[in-house]
Amino acid sequence: MIILGIETSCDETAVGVLEIKKTKAGFFIYPLSNVIASQIKIHRKYGGVVPMLASREHTKNIPIVTKKALRQAFGSNIPKIDLIAVTKGPGLILALLIGVNFAKTLSWKWNKPIIGVNHLEGHLFSFLPYFIKNKKNFFSNSECKKIFPSICLLASGGNTQLIYSKGIGRYKIIGETRDDAAGECFDKGARILGLDYPGGPAIANEAAKHILSNAQCNIQLPRPMINSKNYDFSFSGLKTALLYLVQKLESKKLRKYRPEIAYEFQEAIVDVLIEKTMKATKEFKTKSIILAGGVSANKRLKEKFQERLLNEKLNIKLFFPELECATDNAIMIAIAGFFQYIKSNNKSFDWKKVKADANLRLR
Ligand code: KG4
Repeated sequence: MIILGIETSCDETAVGVLEIKKTKAGFFIYPLSNVIASQIKIHRKYGGVVPMLASREHTKNIPIVTKKALRQAFGSNIPKIDLIAVTKGPGLILALLIGVNFAKTLSWKWNKPIIGVNHLEGHLFSFLPYFIKNKKNFFSNSECKKIFPSICLLASGGNTQLIYSKGIGRYKIIGETRDDAAGECFDKGARILGLDYPGGPAIANEAAKHILSNAQCNIQLPRPMINSKNYDFSFSGLKTALLYLVQKLESKKLRKYRPEIAYEFQEAIVDVLIEKTMKATKEFKTKSIILAGGVSANKRLKEKFQERLLNEKLNIKLFFPELECATDNAIMIAIAGFFQYIKSNNKSFDWKKVKADANLRLR
């Protein structure tokens, strides 16, 4: 089966083609193309995503990105698509509508089934291309059994959730942020520190300067809700603590202490994410932890997770996506669409039924 994935939930216009061959023992998964037009430069000067601008850019980019993805996958041959998978939510409604309406038009024109995918479920599958890379692109049923039950830490610019999953398509949100998302906290923190958008990589780079200096960190920022009894998160207090700290410093001192502050700010976010995930993985006795969403690109987060699992001698596997699949992309949408498709046999996949939903929940 060849699936065309389309993703426009935020500030990336992404289209990808994926081929999946199902066998008795599992699935061969081949990403044939994965094209992403990022709008980072456009939104950078505003310090965050401007929905109207995002929508305008998606409208401009989507035919170009689709043509490129199809050309990369099929060369000069006529594209042969069996299924269209498009992100239907959650996300910015003005951005979602562009991808959804474009995909519905293709479904009508080509007379092909279409499936609306939850963006967050897409992220849960983003580790898969990396995971199967050295396994001849084969994802076996027995490997799948070794992954579940799993705890997924989904941390992006718009969401921070802990999801307990007993298997593909079976999800329960056990905790989420009460205010800012982890990625949003990185973005807002970067703005306070005078760093670029997106804030995650900018703060990570600044923090790396402190790590390289081998100096001690004398700054302390709070780790909100780290010991709370539930699995919820809160990042707005950390952001405010950073703001007060920076306001106290003169600009000359800020330049001097910026790497150290960025380091401590990153540590605070990472520590909370790890503590809550570890607590959940123990309580739910999971076989693995899956990291997903843009924040899963954070090197320090992955390092500290690995250290922690090693120190506690826990036989829990850690999965995370390759850098290019950590942030929004269409391959993850195509994978999620495929699994949804094979699970719901005999259902009609009519374009008229697919609707964008900015507040779609994972269930
Ligand atoms: O998943 P994503 O591409 O978009 C959605 O929000 O859906 O995530 C983007 C977020 C941004 O907030 C960005 O700052 C964060 O992911 N991010 C990172 C890193 N790379 C991207 N956060 C921490 N460390 C990174 N290396």
